[in-house]
Amino acid sequence: MAAGGQSNGKGGQPLLSVQNVETFYGAVMAIRGVSLDVHEGQIVTILGANGAGKTTLLKTISGVMDPEKGKIVFEGKEIQGAEPDAIVRSGIVHVPEGREIFPFLSVEENLMMGAFTRSDRANFAADLDMVHSYFPILKDRAGQQAGYLSGGQQQMLAIGRGLMGKPRLMLLDEPSLGLSPILVQEIFAIIRRLNQEQGVTILLVEQNANVALKVADHGFVLEVGRIVMADTSARLLASEDVQEFYLGMHGESQREQKRWKRRKTWR
Ligand SMILES: Nc1ncnc2c1ncn2[C@@H]1O[C@H](COP(=O)(O)OP(=O)(O)O)[C@@H](O)[C@H]1O
Ligand SMILES: [Mg+2]
Repeated sequence: MAAGGQSNGKGGQPLLSVQNVETFYGAVMAIRGVSLDVHEGQIVTILGANGAGKTTLLKTISGVMDPEKGKIVFEGKEIQGAEPDAIVRSGIVHVPEGREIFPFLSVEENLMMGAFTRSDRANFAADLDMVHSYFPILKDRAGQQAGYLSGGQQQMLAIGRGLMGKPRLMLLDEPSLGLSPILVQEIFAIIRRLNQEQGVTILLVEQNANVALKVADHGFVLEVGRIVMADTSARLLASEDVQEFYLGMHGESQREQKRWKRRKTWR
């Protein structure tokens, strides 16, 4: 089993298995031997500060970057180094950091772009209806230029475009970035519904640990290209290190409490 040792309780082969992957920018190793498993039906989150390597890891999985070392196995097949469009066709969709919608195309044209790489385009209308049922605003704004949408609406469009590719695994890169707390709640509630109702397995990269751990089953903490913690979301939420470094609870009272707890365990 990969680092983290998580399982979905059903055992069996993971949907995605990242095995000892290393990815470079020139001479700089941004991903330094990362291993993790994602099982079918899970929401798994990767937490980490700015520059930890979260985006690089997702780009390596989706084929935007090639790993120097290691394996990436999806549904039992090795996909490391494959072309991004082949990886999309295999069932992995990457919703990139910063949304990257096409600002001069209409909302509906953006959604059509998401269906572009699919071999079965027969269900386009049904899939569009499905996306509109989760994001009604995308139906209301179908003919409008996507660049005029608000940040939250653009994030919805980016996720909707990804859904049009009929993914089995969706890679989400910081969907909460730059959004108000209310919108973040709204988008994360939809992410959870997509997981439960559409059966989309989700690998979610976030700096917002609090919100990500509430929606995820399992979490990994990435620091300078390495996984330094791996556990269930419940245990990570309760972990003092995660609280101190990723949930921003490092006030005096917490430190006092921690010192007291440590003394207690030593005696
Ligand atoms: N285009 C790039 N060229 C060179 N180095 C990069 C580039 N993008 C990211 N890096 C470096 O790779 C590391 C990981 O970056 P990134 O994956 O974007 O982190 P995160 O998404 O966790 O903020 C950082 O140290 C960053 O400086
Ligand atoms: Mg990033």
